[in-house]
Amino acid sequence: MITAVQQTKWIGKNWRFFEVVESTQDVVREWILNGAPHGAIVIADRQTCGRGRIGRSWFSPPGKNLYFTVAMQLSHSHPPLGTLSLLIGVAVAEALRKFSDRIFVKWANDVVSELGRKLAGILVEGFEPEPKKVWALVGVGINVNITENDFPDDLRPIATSLSIVCSREFDRFEVLAKVLCSLEFWWGKWENNELDLFWQAYDQLDWLKGKRVRAFLPDGTEVEGTAAGITFDGELRLILPEGTERRLIAGDVSVRTNVAS
Ligand code: BTN
Repeated sequence: MITAVQQTKWIGKNWRFFEVVESTQDVVREWILNGAPHGAIVIADRQTCGRGRIGRSWFSPPGKNLYFTVAMQLSHSHPPLGTLSLLIGVAVAEALRKFSDRIFVKWANDVVSELGRKLAGILVEGFEPEPKKVWALVGVGINVNITENDFPDDLRPIATSLSIVCSREFDRFEVLAKVLCSLEFWWGKWENNELDLFWQAYDQLDWLKGKRVRAFLPDGTEVEGTAAGITFDGELRLILPEGTERRLIAGDVSVRTNVAS
């Protein structure tokens, strides 16, 4: 852990490591109430109630993977919040691409292999402990050394890990160091509203682009179309079969690509 945070400029200079927590998101929230500084990080070897998006859980067994949350304080004039989790996805994917270039981002919050299997997930939660002090709790789970057999049956067909993609084991803290340095770089761009490079990087890493997808909306309906990149607010652009465009806001939408064409 120490070697990982020695390589950054400000993220993780204050850190807390736990053998086991319910969710690193909640530990950071508590720490902010007790004075955590911007960039503080909580990392755990295991989570008993790891959370994903849309009320899902995040499989968090010990000894294999990375589970951490960074406390980020938002400035007053930040870009649209919908772009933040996409930017974190780009940061994580770029860091992991130091080990393999067969790694991509999948709207909204996933980092996937070229087969579209999930390698990492991002959960950004807002927190406003006092008026005008808004924090983003940036939670990242990365499957590092977990093997196919370690996944439960329901995840095995859709999940993967860095070690499966690269056919070797990794030092988790070496991976963490790369991810934190990348987060630092991309956060700097985001908070200064310098997003040109981000749009370019997202476009290059966009696993969904040009694919037929089915989106599951919060009201229970589904919509099918061809993914055509993202808007400046971080919405997914879908071209519907009749040629019109529909924009999907992240949050409650889940997207799959196994659509019969
Ligand atoms: C998703 O893909 O739905 C998001 C998964 C986010 C998981 C990470 S692991 C560290 C942090 N703590 C949590 O409880 N969740 C996030």
